[in-house]
Amino acid sequence: MTVTKNTAVTTTNGRSFPPTFLFGAATAAYQIEGAAHEDGRTDSIWDAFSRVPGAVLRGENGENACDHYHRYRGDVALMKDLGLQTYRFSTSWSRVQPDGGPVNPQGIDFYSRLVDELLEANIKPWLTLYHWDLPQALEEKGGWTSRDTAARFRDYALHVHDALGDRVGVWTTLNEPWCSSFLSYTGGNHAPGRQSPREGLAAAHHLLLGHGLAVEALRERNSGLELGITLNLTVAKPVDPARAGDVDAARRIDGQFNRVFLDPIFRGAYPEDLLADVAEFGLTDFIEEGDLAQISQPIDSLGVNYYHGELVSDRPAEHPLHGDAPTDRATRSPFPAAEGVFFHPQGLPLTAMEWEVQPDGLRELLVRVNSEYAAPAGTSLYITENGAAFDDAVAPDGSVPDAPRTEFLNAHLGAVLDAIDEGVEVKGYFYWSLLDNYEWAWGYEKRFGIVRVDYETQERTVKDSGLAYAEIIRNRALSA
Ligand code: NOJ
Repeated sequence: MTVTKNTAVTTTNGRSFPPTFLFGAATAAYQIEGAAHEDGRTDSIWDAFSRVPGAVLRGENGENACDHYHRYRGDVALMKDLGLQTYRFSTSWSRVQPDGGPVNPQGIDFYSRLVDELLEANIKPWLTLYHWDLPQALEEKGGWTSRDTAARFRDYALHVHDALGDRVGVWTTLNEPWCSSFLSYTGGNHAPGRQSPREGLAAAHHLLLGHGLAVEALRERNSGLELGITLNLTVAKPVDPARAGDVDAARRIDGQFNRVFLDPIFRGAYPEDLLADVAEFGLTDFIEEGDLAQISQPIDSLGVNYYHGELVSDRPAEHPLHGDAPTDRATRSPFPAAEGVFFHPQGLPLTAMEWEVQPDGLRELLVRVNSEYAAPAGTSLYITENGAAFDDAVAPDGSVPDAPRTEFLNAHLGAVLDAIDEGVEVKGYFYWSLLDNYEWAWGYEKRFGIVRVDYETQERTVKDSGLAYAEIIRNRALSA
């Protein structure tokens, strides 16, 4: 298939990307692979959680997903047609180590074949070790609330490295630890669905520790790797910058969303104000001597996942956004200590997730994260995820017109260029996601792909936004 658009392109006035800037797309194992119980793979926490009544919309699960496990060759061919230079994917822990036990050769072989296929297509593999799918057997031993899980994660990282380290150069330890701690162990929105501020904090600390242990071990094994972590970060702004209550609300959210991970990683300490905010839940009980040194060793790259920012106040919004509750199952705030903080809409256009489209937040975030954290540490910045769900449909001619997604893409890539103009060396961008896929508690309801997946037939159709992205990549510039 040739991915071209039948329209004339003018790039003379288009804004160009630096010559080394990498364009890619991202996915994650549980969201696309399917084959959930094939070739030795056992349950992850998401297999188990999706069986809990009311946990996932329509009770959907990743049993078949996009069947990428069997269709990876075609999917890589699609990436090549789109002109992607790099592809970010994750390995499934319970495929590599069923029940967290001995390595499963068939499981690891799948990733080995995928990597070969990517290299053959001249696409740089970017591997994420943990995108939320802990083996259920480890959850039954305490999951991320248990310190031992951090050590298990280091061992898993080494196993994957021993099989793929000769061909994969870029390694991300964790994807969005905020979600795999607070959303999963405090809010209960995600697997394993626990609802405790203390457990969320324990999970966050042990995830960070696992990151630090894995970075050290991988570095020792192979000094040539590019190692990093991916964080979902936000811009938290007060509704009224002149009101102390609003400013404090913004400080709390910044602390419990951004700095709770950025500070330990880049500064070797949890922020004092965060420690005070969460004091009653005993975060410090989990910190042992040496942990913060372990967590804060140098990393080569920081992946930023950005979807939208937050406008906050200590007063309720007149017209609140609906939030992230796909079913009637009761969840709680994922923030351990943000009682009395309210999220306000800015009146901007919404995606199908009811997330506001705020491209300038990306510029602002990049400038801040660069100056306060990445640049002083000599760490490179990448956008490892950015994207939008819309309710797109197939047109009678078979195409998938999704102009809002193309606008979203252009606006956010424009924000990346704005940040670059302000001196931030952003080195690449991964659209989330290559394919429509399993959107966690929302099941298959929300479509983020630049490629449509028909879940009945598994047919893939490049959406108009995919054609537009291919054009941007070809021109290495936004169209004028
Ligand atoms: C972030 C996560 O990493 C990914 O798994 C998810 O699908 C997207 N955000 C969209 O919600």
